[in-house]
Amino acid sequence: MATEVPYFTNAENGYVPAKLAHRSAASSQPLRLLRFVVNHVIPDTVKFLLQLIPLALSGLVGLVLPSKKKSIHGHTALVTGGANGLGRALCLRLAREGCQVAVVDIDLAGAQRTVEDVRALGVKAEAFLADIANYEAVERLRLEVESKLGPVDVLVNNAGLLAVLSLSEGKPADLERIVNVNLLSHFWTIRAFMPGMITRHRGHIVGIASIAAYFPVGRFIPYTVTKYAVRALMESLNSELRMDGLQNTIQTTCVYPALIATRQQFMDMLDKLNFLKRFYVFTPEQVAEQIIRGVLINKREVFVPSIMALFSKQFDLDEKLAILTPENVADSAIEGMLRGQVDVYAAPFFIRLFMYLSGILPHVLTSLLIQTIMGKVPTLMDRTKKNSRAD
Ligand SMILES: NC(=O)c1ccc[n+]([C@@H]2O[C@H](COP(=O)([O-])OP(=O)(O)OC[C@H]3O[C@@H](n4cnc5c(N)ncnc54)[C@H](O)[C@@H]3O)[C@@H](O)[C@H]2O)c1
Repeated sequence: MATEVPYFTNAENGYVPAKLAHRSAASSQPLRLLRFVVNHVIPDTVKFLLQLIPLALSGLVGLVLPSKKKSIHGHTALVTGGANGLGRALCLRLAREGCQVAVVDIDLAGAQRTVEDVRALGVKAEAFLADIANYEAVERLRLEVESKLGPVDVLVNNAGLLAVLSLSEGKPADLERIVNVNLLSHFWTIRAFMPGMITRHRGHIVGIASIAAYFPVGRFIPYTVTKYAVRALMESLNSELRMDGLQNTIQTTCVYPALIATRQQFMDMLDKLNFLKRFYVFTPEQVAEQIIRGVLINKREVFVPSIMALFSKQFDLDEKLAILTPENVADSAIEGMLRGQVDVYAAPFFIRLFMYLSGILPHVLTSLLIQTIMGKVPTLMDRTKKNSRAD
């Protein structure tokens, strides 16, 4: 049976405007808000605080005891973009942990050089030529890697195009390529390799974003957009793993590095933009070291330098209380524009409060909060089962 894809397309006669039918026209907005607070906000807050107790206790223990390191010795790691720069350094660092390494790149000669250096460290390694922006190529890659090295346990989505392009620069095809390599490739590799991790009850997915995912800089607009999106992908993947009860089976780490000296061409470009005078540049080895240390203690986010974690959370509480209607959203947008605000959260107060909290709370608390509010959300698998029962 073909599963119906649940997204909302325009029907033949256009969109049907939504009516908030369940809300009685007679009840006033303050009364509705009061009911919402009494029925949802207060019970959910109490429930959330109660659920925090075991977490707080384990957090306190964690402060005193050093983080427990896991072993990835003997695991198979796959690194995209392993021919050069950070990817190459990651392959070598993973080899030092005892992983056998699949080095994937469109630059086969470079990948083979990495393979030779990895093998010199006494572990198995193979080079694979694949354009990870192409879904079919990634599916073929999975079969090839599995036949030569076995199933992948550690997936490192590293390959990316370091595009120094402003909004109006680059041809449409350049922008499509940047999005395909920097973002869609993560979807294809996760789709290809995660099911095997679930079946074998072990896996770690690493996504290389950039500090630009928290601090956007002009002159890198398409690049920055893709890195924000990688951050969103990794955070929502995490939430879904938790919803599916897989948080102890598959770990994720999203990495936010500052500048790394990888390609000379890129360094020259940064020099022209005066970036090199103002920012410290890390070596790929320094960054790879921080990433693998983070992976070994299942850190969800790795910032290089780590101090950036302190500055990475943004929030804005300066919003008026509103129940969401198209008019409210339009009002908020216009008001935000007039006030020169960079972000406008046009959402009910509780959601904005939640966004504020999610900005300052570690992810585990955020996920807990989502689960408190939403309850158990049916997984795609549950939905497919329900659909087939209905047939
Ligand atoms: N260099 C930096 O300053 C910096 C800073 C923050 C984040 N990053 C991120 O780190 C990652 C690695 O960057 P780097 O500086 O080592 O880049 P790099 O250009 O030195 O290496 C990237 C590698 O990916 C490969 N690659 C590109 N497209 C591919 C494709 N479609 N399929 C397979 N392989 C492909 C390239 O051939 C190359 O070997 C990127 O995601 C980048 O965005 C880099």
